[in-house]
Amino acid sequence: MTSVKQLYALGTEGSTWSVKQDFDAVFNWDYDDGRVGMMGLYAKGKEMQWDAATRIDWDQELGENNPEGMPEESLPIHMAPCYLKMSEKEKGRVRSHFQAWQLSQFMQGEQGALICAAKIVTQVPDADSKFYAATQTIDEARHVEAYKRLLTKFGVAYPMTKPLKELIDQTLRDSRWDMTYLGMQVVIEGLALAAFGQIRDYAQNQLCAQVNAYVMQDESRHVAFGRLALRDYYPHLTQKERDEREEFLLEACYLMRDRFDAVELWQNLGLPIEECAQAMYESGFMEKFRNSLFTRIVPIVKDIGLWGDTIRNGYQEMGVIDYAKTDVQALQDDDENIAKQFDARRRDIQRVIDRAQAAE
Ligand SMILES: [Fe+2]
Ligand SMILES: [Fe+2]
Repeated sequence: MTSVKQLYALGTEGSTWSVKQDFDAVFNWDYDDGRVGMMGLYAKGKEMQWDAATRIDWDQELGENNPEGMPEESLPIHMAPCYLKMSEKEKGRVRSHFQAWQLSQFMQGEQGALICAAKIVTQVPDADSKFYAATQTIDEARHVEAYKRLLTKFGVAYPMTKPLKELIDQTLRDSRWDMTYLGMQVVIEGLALAAFGQIRDYAQNQLCAQVNAYVMQDESRHVAFGRLALRDYYPHLTQKERDEREEFLLEACYLMRDRFDAVELWQNLGLPIEECAQAMYESGFMEKFRNSLFTRIVPIVKDIGLWGDTIRNGYQEMGVIDYAKTDVQALQDDDENIAKQFDARRRDIQRVIDRAQAAE
């Protein structure tokens, strides 16, 4: 398979990135049975492993001027003057690069999740959490693999965007074990679910929709893991300690809402940056994305008990407090069912092919 290294449209500042760590690796001698909920999740994690190499037919082609087959309004600059005056061919190039940029963020973010899950295995004191996080670690490796395969078909890749790097850096650098959960399982997974969901639900290209549906099937377990672990932990902290976490959450929410502007992409394509950033901020699809982002995050924050004045006032100000009422379980059930529908569709198609071959 092609190396992504050859596909980068921009430099990656070296071939590795190191984040300083300062925490203890913790053993646990109890080997007790663990919490029922956590062990149930571990059992599910083991049982629901899948292999991107066999569950997905990688021979499926991408579209030519619109690889994912996304609606035109999903391109955040589709109404920007610089885009409107382009030829069809130039527009196709912008679409492909935007999609590859986004997919690159998925792949890079999945590597972040891989490292965070491994950090949880090492650092968290509870044995049942270590067990579950071990299944998540392999999940995240498979996700990196799946996105890498898909990205290779695009033939172009982008480095991790600065705001995502900042978020992951902050999450990893923190030496308190719960911050890895908060940053990764709640914030970044929430961001990921919102972004993957748009492709899963709008892409006409089956390959792209399918990859995202399958990844989301796993991600809903990961969010459930964060909820279980943190819900047990936060009530034992002091209000001051919880306030610190609430401040971190608010900052992260502002960063995700306002700073994912893809500047480096517009720059690489030689487009007017300010015009594009402005168009992106105002785009209706981005508005939908932000809504879906808060739908995924706000109810979890409430559920884990980080619901003091700091966060409530902050969310009120952002106009997102009402998302706290979202039924998270229903969303997670959906994520699982949609992935199963993709499997069923694949089986149907196979049956049609088999019948046609038999008739021949
Ligand atoms: Fe993942
Ligand atoms: Fe995940």
